[in-house]
Amino acid sequence: MIRIKPDISDRKLLRLFHLGARISWTSEDYPEFLPSGVEPRAALALAHLMTPVYLGEQSAMLGANRAIAYFSEHRDMSYVVYLSTFMVDEARHLEAITRLYDGLQTDPLAIRDLPDMLRYHHRMRAGQEIATWVFGIMVSDLFAKHFYRALAVLYKDAPLGHMAVRVIQDESRHQAFAEHYLRANLPTLSDDRYTELWDLKEDLLRIIGNMARSLGDDARALGISAPELFDRFATDVSEHSRRMGLKARCRRCPLEGGPPPDWSQLAGEGGCACEAFSRTVAREG
Ligand SMILES: [Fe+2]
Ligand SMILES: [Fe+2]
Repeated sequence: MIRIKPDISDRKLLRLFHLGARISWTSEDYPEFLPSGVEPRAALALAHLMTPVYLGEQSAMLGANRAIAYFSEHRDMSYVVYLSTFMVDEARHLEAITRLYDGLQTDPLAIRDLPDMLRYHHRMRAGQEIATWVFGIMVSDLFAKHFYRALAVLYKDAPLGHMAVRVIQDESRHQAFAEHYLRANLPTLSDDRYTELWDLKEDLLRIIGNMARSLGDDARALGISAPELFDRFATDVSEHSRRMGLKARCRRCPLEGGPPPDWSQLAGEGGCACEAFSRTVAREG
C-alpha cells in the first residue's frame, strides 16, 4: 500500500538494509569459480549435498515476495525496504548454484529422494503466519551457513571457496533479520500458532536426522562428516529457537522454568492442558 510518508524507522532493519545495499556481487565476478578437475563421484556428491540449500534459496526468494506484500499491508515499511536487498541476495545465490550445477554437469536430487524436505518448504511457504516463513528462513539460513562453511574449507584457495564466504556474509544478515522479527513477534502469536511453530521445529529436527543418514555417503565422498555437519546444524536450530522464545511445546506449561510447582494444587485447576503437563501431574500429584 502506497503512503505519502511511510514509516521507515526500525534501526536494526535499516542497518541491515544499508549493509546489504552496499554489497553487490554475482557469480560473474568469479568467472572461473567452477572447480576444475572434480572427479565425477565428487561432482555428484556436491550436487546432492547442495540440494537442500538449493531448495532453501528458492523458498527464501519466492517467499520474500509474499512477505513484502504482508509487511506493506501491515505498514512495516522498514521490513519492505530491508527485504528488497534480501531478494537480491537470494537471487544471486540461486543463480550461482544453478551455474554450479550446469558447470559440474550434474542435477540436484530428485523430489522422491528428499520428500520430507520438499514438504517442509511447502509448509513454510503455505503457513498462515508470516512467522512460519521467517522461522523457516532462519532454519534454511543456518543450514546454508554450515554447508557454505564446509564449501569454503573444501575450496579454501579457489574462487568457489571465496564465493562461499560471500554467501555466508549475506546469510548472516538474513539470520539477523529473522531473529529480529521472531524475538519481537513470537510473544504475540496465539497459543495454537505458537504450538504449530514448535511442531514445525520438531519435524524439522527429524528431517535433519533423515538427511544426515541419506546424504552420509555423499558427504563422505567429499571428506565431510555428515553426522558432524548435521549435528552442528540441529544444535544450532535448537539453540536459536530457544533464544527466540520457542522453549516448549506448550508455552503456558508450568513445567517450564521457575520453581517446581505445587502438584497437588495444580492437579485441580491450575496449569495447562498439554500432554506433558497431565502426564507429570498424574505422576507427581
Ligand atoms: Fe541464500
Ligand atoms: Fe538466506
